[in-house]
Amino acid sequence: MRMRKKKNLASRMEACGALLVRDPAAEKGRWRARRPGAARLRLELGCGKGRFTAETAAAHRSDLYVAVERVPDAMVIAMERCRALGLDNVFFIDGDAAALDQYFAPGEVDLIYINFCDPWPSVKHSRRRLTHEGFLRGYRHVLREGGQIHFKTDNRALFEWSLFQFPKAGFALSEVTRNLHEHGVQGVMTDYEEKFHALGTPINRCVGTMGALPDVPLEDGLQTRLPGWEVRPVTGDDVEAVASLFQADPEYFAIEGPQPDADSVQKDMVNLPPRCAMEQKHYLALWRDGALQAVLDLVEGYPRERTLFVGLFFLAPGLRRQGMGREIVDAALQAAGDAGMDSVRLACLMGNPAGHGFWRAMGFGDLREGARLMGEESAPVWIMERLV
Ligand SMILES: C[S@@+](CC[C@H](N)C(=O)[O-])C[C@H]1O[C@@H](n2cnc3c(N)ncnc32)[C@H](O)[C@@H]1O
Repeated sequence: MRMRKKKNLASRMEACGALLVRDPAAEKGRWRARRPGAARLRLELGCGKGRFTAETAAAHRSDLYVAVERVPDAMVIAMERCRALGLDNVFFIDGDAAALDQYFAPGEVDLIYINFCDPWPSVKHSRRRLTHEGFLRGYRHVLREGGQIHFKTDNRALFEWSLFQFPKAGFALSEVTRNLHEHGVQGVMTDYEEKFHALGTPINRCVGTMGALPDVPLEDGLQTRLPGWEVRPVTGDDVEAVASLFQADPEYFAIEGPQPDADSVQKDMVNLPPRCAMEQKHYLALWRDGALQAVLDLVEGYPRERTLFVGLFFLAPGLRRQGMGREIVDAALQAAGDAGMDSVRLACLMGNPAGHGFWRAMGFGDLREGARLMGEESAPVWIMERLV
């Protein structure tokens, strides 16, 4: 939302200070203490100027209502509206919908409203849409099981696209309509909705109810999330290509151990951690423009049932420092989540500080020190892990 800078923003925000939660992370898991006995916690993302916020909170006084908005110039108007109505069950976060897990504990939220979110029409910006599968999966971290998302938009293309996103993130659709007000105004209107409705634009609405996440096979998930790449298991025909790829980086294998060759690749293809079966292993080649550029060795369900273990991630030296490592690891993390994993673990050699820095930057933390067998020798490693 583009808005002219508000005059006296700071003093107007100050005047509504009782409604503004300046440190929402400190409230995580404790929101209900703000309204003991509240039947439900309703959350609105991108409340804008807050007509919907104020009227919905006023209509449901026994519920606690939290509105998140990242443009203070709009939010201050919403706050003033709520203050004028004397509402004491509504609070505001000057923050980002992408950071909900920092503000709310798992299961703390009952209902999320997404009203007329920015459509981001270009495909390359689709991840920014608040109904993108990635955002929807993020909301799962704070919604209770069976909790709902109520979504309204005037934008038909965004709506149709969103209908595909909800099930992918484990939300069952209901109340799907492409003309909400066909037979008269239904429910509370937002500021945007009022304008579009007055222009005769049909309003689309649906409800998503949170259920179990669909499990997607790891390789399929990875392929879906890496559209510019071809992801496939390494076969006997690829062994020479994989060995050449590894040999192109003498530095890495100075750290990792003996010089790789076709024999060592063949061993890697069947090498398993203790008590694991071949069905758990995915030794994958990632091709780009017909060239082998990366290799991933993944083991599902090791060392715990819902942990994915990364035995190796190798990217062609020429493709490093361009964000591609991050792209592949992000995709692997998401694919792990799609496949039903809840964490990803790896062992990073202590003699590889650059690798350690990379995994740290990808959100992995040091779990403990360990050791890894490299040929006859044992080398110290950091056991690293992160949630997906
Ligand atoms: C098109 S306006 C709609 C406002 C209001 N929901 C309505 O229907 O009148 C979208 C609003 O979402 C806010 N917004 C967009 N992305 C956001 C995000 N990631 N976190 C918080 N607010 C966001 C924008 O600042 C803007 O105020």
